[in-house]
Amino acid sequence: MSVTLPNLQDWNFTVDFERIAWAVFDRKGESMNALGRRATEELGEIVKAVEEGAAKGEVRGLVLISAKERSFISGADIREFEGFDTEAKIAEVVKQTLDLFDRIDRLPVPVVAAIHGYCLGGGLELALACDWRIADREEDTRLGFPEVKLGIFPGLNGTVRAIEAAGPMDAMTAMLTGRMLRPTAAKAMGLIDQLVPTRHTLRWAARKAVLRNRKSPGAPWWKRLMLKQPVRGLLAKQMRAKTAEKVREEHYPAPFRLIDLFERYGDDPQRMRTAETEMFTPLMASETSRNLRRVFKLSEMLKDEAPKDGFKPRKVHVIGAGTMGGDIAAWCVVQGMQASLQDLDEAQIGKALTRAKSLFKRRLRNELAVETAIARLIADPSGKHVKHADVVIEAIVEKLDVKQTLFQKLEREVKPGAVLATNTSSLRLEDIAKPLADPGRLVGLHFFNPVAQLPLVEVVRGETTREDEVRKACAFVTAINKLPLIVKSCSGFLVNRVLAPYMMEAVRRFQQGEPRDKIDQAALKFGMPMGPLELMDMVGLDIANHVGEELGLAPEGDNPLAALVKQGKLGKKTGEGFYVWEQGKPKRKPAEYSQAQLERLGRELVEPMLDEAERALADGVVATEDHVDAGVIFGTGFAPFRGGPLHYRHKERESTAAAAA
Ligand code: NAI
Repeated sequence: MSVTLPNLQDWNFTVDFERIAWAVFDRKGESMNALGRRATEELGEIVKAVEEGAAKGEVRGLVLISAKERSFISGADIREFEGFDTEAKIAEVVKQTLDLFDRIDRLPVPVVAAIHGYCLGGGLELALACDWRIADREEDTRLGFPEVKLGIFPGLNGTVRAIEAAGPMDAMTAMLTGRMLRPTAAKAMGLIDQLVPTRHTLRWAARKAVLRNRKSPGAPWWKRLMLKQPVRGLLAKQMRAKTAEKVREEHYPAPFRLIDLFERYGDDPQRMRTAETEMFTPLMASETSRNLRRVFKLSEMLKDEAPKDGFKPRKVHVIGAGTMGGDIAAWCVVQGMQASLQDLDEAQIGKALTRAKSLFKRRLRNELAVETAIARLIADPSGKHVKHADVVIEAIVEKLDVKQTLFQKLEREVKPGAVLATNTSSLRLEDIAKPLADPGRLVGLHFFNPVAQLPLVEVVRGETTREDEVRKACAFVTAINKLPLIVKSCSGFLVNRVLAPYMMEAVRRFQQGEPRDKIDQAALKFGMPMGPLELMDMVGLDIANHVGEELGLAPEGDNPLAALVKQGKLGKKTGEGFYVWEQGKPKRKPAEYSQAQLERLGRELVEPMLDEAERALADGVVATEDHVDAGVIFGTGFAPFRGGPLHYRHKERESTAAAAA
């Protein structure tokens, strides 16, 4: 066969004896396939070779497939985005890629995408430019448009092609939520044309699809009817209302622009194509998108720092089946581990198992997966499983002598090499480790409440903790799909230390007569996920008060927080705190405040948080500025679109300086 491309680095290209061209994506030096500049240029060469081969009758079809374990194409290469700093540069790169995808769309021979692993963002847009899409049903295969999470929407004509393939409801929902879809769900929508059982059957199915000249039928007529007015306008209105329930347009404009695009041009694919680029470009160049890309990179940074080799934990033993211990054990099980759960009080274990079951039902895909998860979570009141565990986590009462006694016993029982960890939130690690024969072994694993929702775990390095134990603890945190942040052992570690002054500022404002709804609304206006008073009610006012006192931050004079605790009003768990709680929700008084007032108050509330973030960095609680920002975003939900407390403060200073100049 005369069609060859010997000099490719990211792709492997061959034409077989049946004249089927195979473009195998295997990005050099990376475990995942991303569409970087070189990979895209090489794909251009492949398309050219296929165009020429097809004209000469030497190629009868093209299959795009990946050689990676878990990635078809995970999207565009975000690391390269930073070079695109002006709208003009962005428009140029987008145009080149659009042209390439259009050439794939127009190839005179059938083009098949054979998908195993992540097929996301630009990867899915490329697949949609092919004639036929086959995915395997394996657990690692996921499809989706995560662009909104980066402050943009699909910009390689994916908006138009997704609607053509799946119809407006399914396609827009997928693009607006950024949700990752299992192959079966993607097939039901029409984003995928065919499913095969495993990756090993993909090639065979792709070959057959080429030989049969398969072409995706696109969305059925009844779905396409929804593109016509007035239905489209009504759909857009519904989408806007649903999106506004989750995010504010002023903070996250991308989904709202996507709805505008659909509403204006949904029934005119040609016009929608050009409008997509016109609306995509300013979003991509915006500060919001830059900050959200920063957040993505910070999460990658934390993942990359954990060692990938050596320690492979499988079994976890958790002692203390209360709020934290029960949920930590359940989370480990959801992530595929076996967990045993110990408590002095067997009733606590029972309650934890019931909570775990409802988590499994929410998180796992079918009955069988739920049943096997239930079997992997073992009630172990007497601690028989300690000796088999790779990781032992203590989450019992916050009392030094009780924890010390427990660890002295554990030290004798655990197997060599197992991680010995405490979830303490306020005790010194060095003090807990003092009576141990080998104090270097103890490490902190500080989870956040609610465990299933907050992605961060602080890995606490005590003065005596051995480096190897810190590394193993990080490997464990990554293995359970959380982000590890190494912190120095000190009061409040990073997250509580930075969060507490903000909470106490809110209490002080309340003490001074600011209405509680106004305080919470102001925090939302700044971009926090929840108001500070509501958050304290959720965490428990006793705990919030304890942290405030521990860090010496409790307000002077009549402290309303301490007063509520004294009255036994501890927040959500007792039904009343700053708010009265009914059916799991705080009762609010509907009140309207001026946006300018809320903006000012919101900014003032976070000021002590920004100050404390700077002090924590100066004290070396974490390694770098990026680690402070990562910890505060992933541990507290600090307004991601602002890029983190320190990043935000720099930007603010820069713009003040620029305004003064
Ligand atoms: P909790 O009071 O809900 O649960 C503690 C459990 O430990 C109880 O079920 C109790 O029966 C059991 N227990 C007490 N002594 C024991 C012993 N010697 N052996 C076995 N079981 C024993 O407490 P929570 O809130 O789960 O806190 C546990 C630990 O996690 C504490 O160190 C706390 O500081 C820390 N933490 C708590 C957070 C929170 O938001 N509640 C957040 C992060 C850390």
